[in-house]
Amino acid sequence: MCGIVGYIGPREAYPIIITGLKRQEYRGYDSTGIALINENGLEVFKKKGKVAELELSLLGKPVNAHIGIGHTRWATHGEPSDVNAHPHKSNNEKLAIIHNGIIENYAQLKSELIKKGYSFKSETDTEVLVNFIEDIQKNTQSSLEEAVRIALKRVSGAYVILLLDEDNPDTIIAARKGSPLVIGIGKDEHFLGSDATPMLEYTKEVVYVNDYEIAIIKAGELILKNLGNERQMPYISKLDIELAAIEKGGYDHFMLKEIYEQPTTIYDCLRGRLDAEKGTITMKGIQDHIEALIHAPRYIIIACGTSWHAALEAEYIIEELCRIPVEVEYASEFRYRNPIINKGDVIIAVSQSGETADTLVAIEKAKEQGAFIFGIVNVVGSSISRASHAGAYTHAGPEIGVASTKAFTAQLAVLMMIALKIAKEKGTIENSRYMELLVELENIPEKVDAILKNGDLLKPIAEKYKDAGNALYLGRGYNFPIALEGALKLKEISYIHAEGYPAAEMKHGPIALVDKNLPVVFVATKDEYHAKIVSNIQEIKARKGKVIAIITEGDDLIPSMADDVFAVPTANEIIAPLLSVVPLQLLSYYIGVAKGCDVDKPRNLAKSVTVE
Ligand code: AGP
Repeated sequence: MCGIVGYIGPREAYPIIITGLKRQEYRGYDSTGIALINENGLEVFKKKGKVAELELSLLGKPVNAHIGIGHTRWATHGEPSDVNAHPHKSNNEKLAIIHNGIIENYAQLKSELIKKGYSFKSETDTEVLVNFIEDIQKNTQSSLEEAVRIALKRVSGAYVILLLDEDNPDTIIAARKGSPLVIGIGKDEHFLGSDATPMLEYTKEVVYVNDYEIAIIKAGELILKNLGNERQMPYISKLDIELAAIEKGGYDHFMLKEIYEQPTTIYDCLRGRLDAEKGTITMKGIQDHIEALIHAPRYIIIACGTSWHAALEAEYIIEELCRIPVEVEYASEFRYRNPIINKGDVIIAVSQSGETADTLVAIEKAKEQGAFIFGIVNVVGSSISRASHAGAYTHAGPEIGVASTKAFTAQLAVLMMIALKIAKEKGTIENSRYMELLVELENIPEKVDAILKNGDLLKPIAEKYKDAGNALYLGRGYNFPIALEGALKLKEISYIHAEGYPAAEMKHGPIALVDKNLPVVFVATKDEYHAKIVSNIQEIKARKGKVIAIITEGDDLIPSMADDVFAVPTANEIIAPLLSVVPLQLLSYYIGVAKGCDVDKPRNLAKSVTVE
């Protein structure tokens, strides 16, 4: 949820940490802060608001140092404020801590500490933890590393913590459980981050820290241990991300850049996997487990948010092509619902970040019951990718805009390839249909490019509806999950309340909302339900609703009844969702911009939800 950054080595720590925090800001932007150790001892600077505001406030301040930690916050305990911002110092002012996660038993620890005379400036769980560590250090005369180990055995919840100790100015102590931590290996220096973005220009060698590991980091040394105080061998991975991938590349916003990257990202996702000429789909993760996947009595797809919409789309496609029953689960509900998992059931976990706590905990739960986990993830080396038995990366590249766009279309492309491959292997699809769908999928990048070339046509439509208080998104069949996704994008980006619905469901209640002020967005590309969706549009028009319709090029019926239309190229109904979602992404973007919203960092949101 929050972003953490750290540096120790010969370089100036401050600029590395500030740049790193700006790159982590999509993880939370309620407040920010840094701690440094220099000739003045342990210094903490923190402030409510964005990193740029902190940077401004520190102009001319003594921020020279070769060791430091930094934090950008998504508030969980205590409202966004200067005092609740991280880092937090211990009562003896010797320790400073930053934390990403939630300490669930902090209230009980806090009351124990208050009885011992500790006082607290903030409302945060994190300040309780650093004082708990100070107390253990004091009572056991132990090193900071040892005190951290003892403390972490007593806390419940999720955490990545980084600590500085004024008495040990050459060491950073870090620990992880549930939230992500990456350590970059340099020559006589180390970089720390919630992901690899803070260290991209310095090193391509990283260690993904595992749960229950503590790292003792000096400039020239990295020691990993478990909570049992046993040394762990760091596994060094190579990064394949370039700096340009996390820069705006001349676009006003990451969201717009990522929407316009989709012809390339969908191509990259298909590349080396789909060959329509040969009629093949090559996916090692699927091939290695093809028997289990073909004979599975049921697929359970677990996800959250936009990834859940990709999962719902997969239910339609897999059941249609593979004839395997599919259930789609909100990870957070699945986790606590005590679900029934039968022998042979396959769990598919879909996640852009690969760090969403609800999804991670849900698959751990399913693994306890012996389920086979197949992960579909975008971030390489992320927790869900490492917790899965097999998987497929979506290769959409770093997605910085909080609203997921290119990762969604890449998820759809991967799920469509999986469905086609399994249907082919299982013999539940005619070869002619199989080949036709492969060609359709291969042509998608070009068709998305054509849509984007007309993207500006959505600007006046966005201008027209930007002051709406509510909106409805409707679709049938394969277009229903896209209606849900369109509604989520508008909510996230423009703060307009929007609901996605199966179009036929309207008559059972929501149609009561329709009047001349309500924009109703129809995902109405050509498919077998077309006549039905036309009637639904007429029902809305009969109540003076404003209809915006995403249609298939050449459809001359709907334009005669809708207020606004946007046409996408023709495609098979199973593949068309990859096209119809793009104008919905752009519509929400242009409405958000027209309303002056921070489209890359919408209020109250964060890119990766690492707490339950
Ligand atoms: C989508 O735009 C949102 N950022 C959010 O709903 C997101 O899809 C959800 O948090 C799941 O994230 P994940 O794909 O990284 O697991």
